[in-house]
Amino acid sequence: MQRRDFWNFYSAGRIVFGSGVIRRLGQFLQPLKAKNVLIVTDAILAKVGVVDQVLSPLTEAGLCVDVFDGGEPEPSFAVADRAIEMALRNRPDVIIGVGGGSNLDLAKIVANIVTHGGMYKDYLGYGKVPGPIMPLVCVPTTAGTGSEVSHAAVLTDTQNQTKVSSLSHYLRPWLAVVDPKLTLTCPPRASADSGIDALTHAIEAFTAVRFDEMDVPADEPFPYDGKQPIGDCLAERAIELIGQHLTTVVREPGNLVAREGMALAATLAGLAFSNNAVAVVHALEYPIGGALHCSHGAGNGLLLPYVMRFNLPNRTAEFARIARLLGEETKGLSESAAAEKAITAVERIRAEIGIPQRIRELGGTVDQLPIFAKKSFEIKRLMLLNGRTPTEADLLEILQAAY
Ligand SMILES: NC(=O)c1ccc[n+]([C@@H]2O[C@H](COP(=O)([O-])OP(=O)(O)OC[C@H]3O[C@@H](n4cnc5c(N)ncnc54)[C@H](O)[C@@H]3O)[C@@H](O)[C@H]2O)c1
Ligand SMILES: [Fe+2]
Repeated sequence: MQRRDFWNFYSAGRIVFGSGVIRRLGQFLQPLKAKNVLIVTDAILAKVGVVDQVLSPLTEAGLCVDVFDGGEPEPSFAVADRAIEMALRNRPDVIIGVGGGSNLDLAKIVANIVTHGGMYKDYLGYGKVPGPIMPLVCVPTTAGTGSEVSHAAVLTDTQNQTKVSSLSHYLRPWLAVVDPKLTLTCPPRASADSGIDALTHAIEAFTAVRFDEMDVPADEPFPYDGKQPIGDCLAERAIELIGQHLTTVVREPGNLVAREGMALAATLAGLAFSNNAVAVVHALEYPIGGALHCSHGAGNGLLLPYVMRFNLPNRTAEFARIARLLGEETKGLSESAAAEKAITAVERIRAEIGIPQRIRELGGTVDQLPIFAKKSFEIKRLMLLNGRTPTEADLLEILQAAY
């Protein structure tokens, strides 16, 4: 098998970042010469006034705007069906996702179906989207999943109690508008959960298998490129920003400096993971989130230190670096003692922001652990990207430690 001797870097077509920049949205859309816009969002964001902040510049620019506000956290197939039905009826020229990762992913799924037809189930897995999709704009209101720049769209398969995703570089938005002010109303629970998801993205990207060591033939299409230099730079900066600002946004929701730091971190982490990798933390969260109905971020945050402990022997240098980026004092320590501090720093942050620390706190039972291990192990693409390749028995051990 010939391994890769190259890597790629993909992004959203354009990223605009700035506090208050949403008021310029009409101007950003001008090149599209669009007339009809569909906003995909949820009722909470409509209620707190975020949707109005997106809608006003559009109507001022003379656009005709419809709003689908039926989004929900960790969206189910049923919600996707309703959003798709409205979009197929209205036939917008542009779709704008407004919300956390849940609504942004829904917007991606809708934009894909309006463009290419079929059912979202036809596009699950990697590389199923046949070509470019219609103009899609993503406006994140959490910090966050990084969906505004990523190639992923995730739904919850309620029947099989797991998450499923569609991965394609065509799903990266045409435009990402990251306005940190839109996260000011984000409640502490959602700020904590989505913030630790961003930390998980950055750490999994930074500690993944290198692009030239991945066990994937060079010419086989694959959704991640492995650890590579641009993704690494972005992940490092994201980790540092999260260490500085995550606890603050949870404790002081109105702190704009901290909101700006987290908004930038989330987008950087989104770029990092959607090029490098996510790995075992995400693989384990898929069935746990599907069965126990915790948020994606809470599940990842719970699992992150346990998976880090498993990865530690293979990633000592990277963990020592993560410890320093998270503000830990490592002077005079051996590399392995410094690396250990990355885990304690993540545990500290997790405790400060109130993320559950045990699977049993989420209502999971011991009998479920082998099922979680089995379902996770089946997500092969995430197993082979992890800094230390696990067996199914390893996954069960991680889960038992986290139980
Ligand atoms: N596509 C990707 O690359 C990617 C990456 C990671 C996670 N995800 C997915 O994203 C979803 C989680 O997204 P999330 O963590 O951003 O949370 P979310 O989108 O599920 O939002 C959580 C809750 O917070 C509310 N909320 C969001 N922003 C708010 C604001 N500014 N003011 C008031 N309320 C606000 C929402 O209405 C919702 O009720 C999961 O489905 C996960 O699988 C996708
Ligand atoms: Fe995630």
